[in-house]
Amino acid sequence: MQESNPFRIQPQQPRSGGGVRTRGGPPVPPPPGPSPKIIKNMEKIKYKLAVLSGKGGVGKSFITASLAMALAVRGRKIGVLDMDYHGPSMPRMLGVKQELLTAVLDANNAARIIPAEGVFGIKVVSVDLILSDKTTPVVWRGAIKVKVTQQFLEDVEWGELDYLLIDMPPGTGDDALNLVQILPGLAGFIFVTIPSEVSTHVVAKSIRFVESVREQLGKDLKVVGVIENMSYFICDDGKKHYIFGRGGGERLSKALKTRLLGHIPLDPRIAESNDKGEPFFIKYKDSPAAEEFLRIADRVIEYIER
Ligand SMILES: Nc1ncnc2c1ncn2[C@@H]1O[C@H](COP(=O)(O)OP(=O)(O)OP(=O)(O)O)[C@@H](O)[C@H]1O
Ligand SMILES: [Mg+2]
Repeated sequence: MQESNPFRIQPQQPRSGGGVRTRGGPPVPPPPGPSPKIIKNMEKIKYKLAVLSGKGGVGKSFITASLAMALAVRGRKIGVLDMDYHGPSMPRMLGVKQELLTAVLDANNAARIIPAEGVFGIKVVSVDLILSDKTTPVVWRGAIKVKVTQQFLEDVEWGELDYLLIDMPPGTGDDALNLVQILPGLAGFIFVTIPSEVSTHVVAKSIRFVESVREQLGKDLKVVGVIENMSYFICDDGKKHYIFGRGGGERLSKALKTRLLGHIPLDPRIAESNDKGEPFFIKYKDSPAAEEFLRIADRVIEYIER
């Protein structure tokens, strides 16, 4: 086995033409189903779960990283795929120290990408780990993102895993539909919301997304549950203050006919740890938020593995 550059897609030189959507141009055709290579590579992963939300900034990435750590504490082998190509954050939130992914050639001279290792041995793959200049914005459009996702699913040496958690970009649009199309055996979605996100159109969009998957792709995907983030703030005197109102999680879970997996409090130490790249779940392991993540992990395990 020897080192080599594994990437068919050169991230800093987005290609022009070749099926990439241009403004006002023809839409990118949906990707074909999973390739035989993806099917083979994904066989060793028991459960694949995607974390998404109706809109951005509600804490999906923080929830994905913390749930990954909580499941690892419960003895599960975990991988995390960061599909947010424009705002990757998984390496930072999972305490990854290395700058770039490496690769080796296998016996057939095919490149295999080796995931980075985060805390608790969590395997992490992110576009942030293939860009040497972290300040260059990623300007890929639809077709290139699909190709990169395909390569991450085909060529990464994930090994045997219990769970692969996928941190999705904001929204319930093409990226999420494309993932469903190319990833075989996706066990389901976890929706993240905040208490005030009760606007009818966000809820309706989430329902519509699940219906589209069923209708367009003929796949009956499960909604594993809803996690409400930033639910309340606990004051020094122990009182809970519902700063963003109440009811978003209950409303979305009812609308999606699924369970509410838990409520994560608003805690300024969360934003601070995420910014510093110190996993909150470890640094504040006795906090109400960390304890709630363990309960959520137990509920996910109960539902998925029963
Ligand atoms: N419960 C919380 N308490 C305090 N800060 C939080 C909490 N959850 C998330 N944050 C902070 O809110 C910001 C947004 O969180 P995060 O990046 O996880 O959201 P996201 O839904 O993944 O965003 P995007 O849609 O852009 O991918 C981050 O700065 C994060 O540290
Ligand atoms: Mg995010």
